[in-house]
Formats: sequence, structure tokens, C-alpha cells
Amino acid sequence: MARIAVIPGDGIGNEVIPEGLRVLRHLDGKHGLGLTFEHFDLGAERYLRDGTTMPPEVMARFRDEFDAILLGALGDPRVPSNVHAKDILLGSRFQLDLYVNLRPVRLLDARYCPLKGKGPDEVDMVVFRENTEGLYTGIGGQFKRGTEDEVAIEQEINTRKGVERIIRAAFEYARAQKRRSVCMSDKANAMRHGHDLWQRVFKLVAAEYPDIPSFHLYVDVLAMEMVRAPERLDVIVTTNLFGDIVTDLGAALQGGLGLAGSGNIHPGKVSLFEPVHGSAPDIAGQGIANPLATMLACGMMLTHLGHPELEAQIQDAVRGNLADGQVTRELGGSMSTKDVTDALISRL
Ligand code: NAD
Ligand code: IPM
Ligand code: MN
Repeated sequence: MARIAVIPGDGIGNEVIPEGLRVLRHLDGKHGLGLTFEHFDLGAERYLRDGTTMPPEVMARFRDEFDAILLGALGDPRVPSNVHAKDILLGSRFQLDLYVNLRPVRLLDARYCPLKGKGPDEVDMVVFRENTEGLYTGIGGQFKRGTEDEVAIEQEINTRKGVERIIRAAFEYARAQKRRSVCMSDKANAMRHGHDLWQRVFKLVAAEYPDIPSFHLYVDVLAMEMVRAPERLDVIVTTNLFGDIVTDLGAALQGGLGLAGSGNIHPGKVSLFEPVHGSAPDIAGQGIANPLATMLACGMMLTHLGHPELEAQIQDAVRGNLADGQVTRELGGSMSTKDVTDALISRL
């Protein structure tokens, strides 16, 4: 039994989420998982219609009545403030305390990697992005807005509790999954207060996991190493903003945003799964969005719900699609969103 809240959201979210649901329903029918789905009309359309972004009672229902949330994407050119995305996506991350943003950077087929001579053995990382603080809390302010004397302050929040729990989650994962190493990445050479905290907590937590090799890279060097020598990297733990940036880079190494899934997780509690990509207004409505990132996110959700073997099956099926060129245009194929899903389901 698992209750899943579904928010297709904006743009291509409305194209890829129905395809993800087809895969989940197929697996449910085959394995009797007892999945139930409830759709939530949240996103730009709803906001433009009646001003609603994220009703508090819906957030309370997510927390109390669901095991997982499946989200497409949020972002619409008609809502330049992006206030609905802030309330729905960041609101869920903060209010449901989804402190682990788990973003695998796993190349499934060498031909889609932009790096010369690198294949699935070299590109296999897992990023633990801190997801509840950092530069994302909106704490700060503006003074003398719109004048020549304007001041704008965006404060980075790093709490001992927040830093420790994400670093610990990375080490726990490394141990459980028998990974090779944990790399912590920050910018302590420039950010003397918050990232000094990261340095000290990392050393303390690493000492509790003597069986797991660990090291540190400044985030600028991490970005370089991900491209130059991705095989050096395995589990990576970093701040909210740095994690956002390096996982789009990571998506490129995997073959693009159409192949990157993610989980916003509080272990043991309701958690939210989504593709890393956004609403892609440039291709929305054409039926050509790549649904595979959503499939991989659905796989991560199934692991969260206690079915890791089904995540492995989805990954294998995605590998099969990639090997046979059953892909959308941005990967050099000619299939539609629906055809890619049909091919994938036929492998399951
Ligand atoms: P984007 O990820 O939507 O698109 C970037 C590029 O990648 C575009 O060229 C797009 O066509 C392509 N792309 C993305 N996903 C694809 C897919 N599945 N198949 C094929 N091509 C794909 O990023 P953006 O254009 O910077 O953002 C658009 C909107 O989405 C913005 O409002 C942004 O804030 C929002 N956004 C939301 C989320 C989220 O909800 N988690 C994540 C990122 C961006
Ligand atoms: C992501 C997105 C979001 C983020 C945006 C839409 C606020 O880019 O999920 O990666 O920065 O976290
Ligand atoms: Mn992002």
C-alpha cells in the first residue's frame, strides 16, 4: 500500500507525469503494489485562475495522508515572480523537512555522454544536496529599492543540525550502498563563517566512518573535476545552491536534463520525487519532452516505498531504450514522449 500525491505542475510537467503514471500503474498491476494516486491542481494555471499557490491544508494532507509526492515541474513565463514555485516546491522542501536532495549522476549509456572516452564506469556519482537551508530560505532584504543607493542582502543559513544531518546521510548511504568515497564540497576559502562550519562538521562526522574514504574539494574544483576526471568522484555532499548547480552539470554528463531524476527525501517520512529539469516552456505542448528523467524519479520513489528491485528494473528498461535509440529528439531520436514510454513499458 502506498498513497501518492501527484502534481503535474507546469509546462512539460503535464506531458511527462502522465507517462510516469502509466509506468507506475503498469508495475502496480503486475506486482500488486497497492498504489493509489490523488491529483492536485497546483501550478501556474491555478495561481492565475484564483491566486492559490499552496494551501496550508493541502500541505498538512501531504504530511499526514501520503507516502510520496510525484511532481512534474513548476515555472511559467506568465508568472515572472515564480511565487507559486517558491510556495509549492520550496514550501514542500522546507515544511515537510525534506533535507536530502538525492541526485544520482549515473551515465546509463556511453554514447550520450559529452565527455571523450568516458563511459558508465567513469560517470557514476550520487549528489547529496542539502535541501532545507543554505541560500534558499529567502532570509534577507532590500533597502532603498530602486534607488542608486540600493542594498540587497541574501543570507546563507547553515545550522549545525542541518549540516550534520546531510553529511551523515551521505556517509550512511556510502556505507549501505558500498560506495568508494564521500567528497564534501564547499567554498570555505571565501565563505569564512558558514562553510567553516561545514569543514568542522565534516571532519567530526567522517571520523565516525573510518571505513569510508573521504576528502574535500572546493566547489569550483569540483565543477572542473566532474568534467576532467569524473571517475575520481563517487558520493558528493554539498550545500543547497552548489548542489543545484553541479547537478545540472551532472545532468549534462548523463546525457542531459531529460535523463536526470531526483528525490527530496526525509528518511521514513513523506518524500517528493521529481525530474531535475524544469517546465521547459521552449518545447512544452509539442509532445517531444523526454519522459525518462521522470521514469528514473519514479524508480527512486519506488525504492523509497520499499521496492528497490523495481527501481533497478526501470533503470534497466531506460538503458534498453537508450541502447536501441528509442529516445526523443534532443538525444538524436525521433520518438514522441508517448512512444518512448510505450517502448519502455514493453521492456517491463
Ligand atoms: P528547463 O530545465 O526547464 O529547460 C532547460 C533546457 O533543457 C530547455 O532547452 C529545455 O527544452 C530542455 N529540457 C528540459 N527538460 C527536458 C526534457 N524532459 N526533454 C527534453 N528537453 C528538456 O530550465 P529553464 O528553461 O531554466 O526553466 C524553465 C522553468 O522551469 C523556469 O520557470 C524555472 O524556474 C523552472 N524550473 C523548475 C524546476 C522544478 O520545478 N523542479 C527545475 C528547474 C527549473
Ligand atoms: C531544482 C530547481 C529549483 C531549485 C528552482 C525551480 C527553485 O532548479 O529543483 O533544481 O533551484 O532548487
Ligand atoms: Mn535546478
